[in-house]
Amino acid sequence: MIELKFVNREEELKTLHELANKGTTLPIYLYGPEGCGKTRLLKEFIKKVNGVALYIDALEGEDPEKALLTTPLNILTDIVKDLIKEVAKPVGQYLCLSLWKILKHIETKLQIRGKPLIIAVDDITRAIGLSKVEWYTKWLYELIKKLQEDYRPSSILIIATTSEGKSLDLVMRHTYTHINLVWNLDKEAHQELIQQLKPPKNIDPEQLWYYTGGNPRATIDIAENNWNIDSWIQKIEAKLRPLIRTIRSLNLTNELQKLIEDPDNIEKQPSQKMEQLYTILVEANLFMYKGFRTINGKHIPKNPELGIGEYYAWQIPAYKHALEQLLQR
Ligand SMILES: Nc1ncnc2c1ncn2[C@@H]1O[C@H](COP(=O)(O)OP(=O)(O)O)[C@@H](O)[C@H]1O
Ligand SMILES: [Mg+2]
Repeated sequence: MIELKFVNREEELKTLHELANKGTTLPIYLYGPEGCGKTRLLKEFIKKVNGVALYIDALEGEDPEKALLTTPLNILTDIVKDLIKEVAKPVGQYLCLSLWKILKHIETKLQIRGKPLIIAVDDITRAIGLSKVEWYTKWLYELIKKLQEDYRPSSILIIATTSEGKSLDLVMRHTYTHINLVWNLDKEAHQELIQQLKPPKNIDPEQLWYYTGGNPRATIDIAENNWNIDSWIQKIEAKLRPLIRTIRSLNLTNELQKLIEDPDNIEKQPSQKMEQLYTILVEANLFMYKGFRTINGKHIPKNPELGIGEYYAWQIPAYKHALEQLLQR
């Protein structure tokens, strides 16, 4: 799959660049639906940022060159060459635990002092595991202070991302991080993305919006599925079938119906069963809490048709449609 031209996210990028120049005392934790564009946003940001920047794909298993992105770009090969002798696998995990060492390597190639220093660690939860997430976020917080003392950059910005709703609960328990949402694309940007994918004439963009809610990965998935939306939904249903079995066996179908009607019912009609269902859906990365603002201070508005409530939402509308279908059978 070729990489599509980057669309939209101007406001997010603008804010990120401002933050990079100002610096923050707390790491920023970005989270949002799977496939909404967190990785792409970070990479676009890191590529153009003013200062010394380092991006780590914590999920990369094998190739250090794929796991790292730096600005300025030319220091990358040197770092990788230096590191490669000692890198352990999975590479991404090793790198996020070796930030200190990587920065030492960078410092031997170019001066960090007096420049903005930006570090982005992508998809930390899946790489280091839920059990280490709290520890790691705290460690990043302490890293900011240590980096300030040792390297004297003009500012420091550290960003970490995850799509795992469960990790959010862990991170939320503490005060040493700022949490921000990244949401799916807005309608206009989504249309732009669809046009790049050259849909056949009979494809209704409104229908794509209805099922993907602007999620770029889901949209690309549909394109790769020869634009057959029905069979794409069927594939989602096939994945969710075992989950429905669990939900039925636990007598949680009424609760599920209520969340399909309105995601905010999770807090409007609280019960132990609701909590039980919430845990299941969050762990399956279908449903999430969305009470935080985006990095540029926006609140994602309620949109019942897309399964977006005031505080809670389905990650993409297709999940609620697929679950609804499965419930009816
Ligand atoms: N703003 C965008 N413009 C163009 N393509 C995008 C944009 N955001 C995401 N994509 C594409 O959508 C797919 C999923 O995005 P990704 O950043 O991997 O999502 P996430 O990291 O949130 O799971 C990737 O192929 C990515 O290149
Ligand atoms: Mg990602």
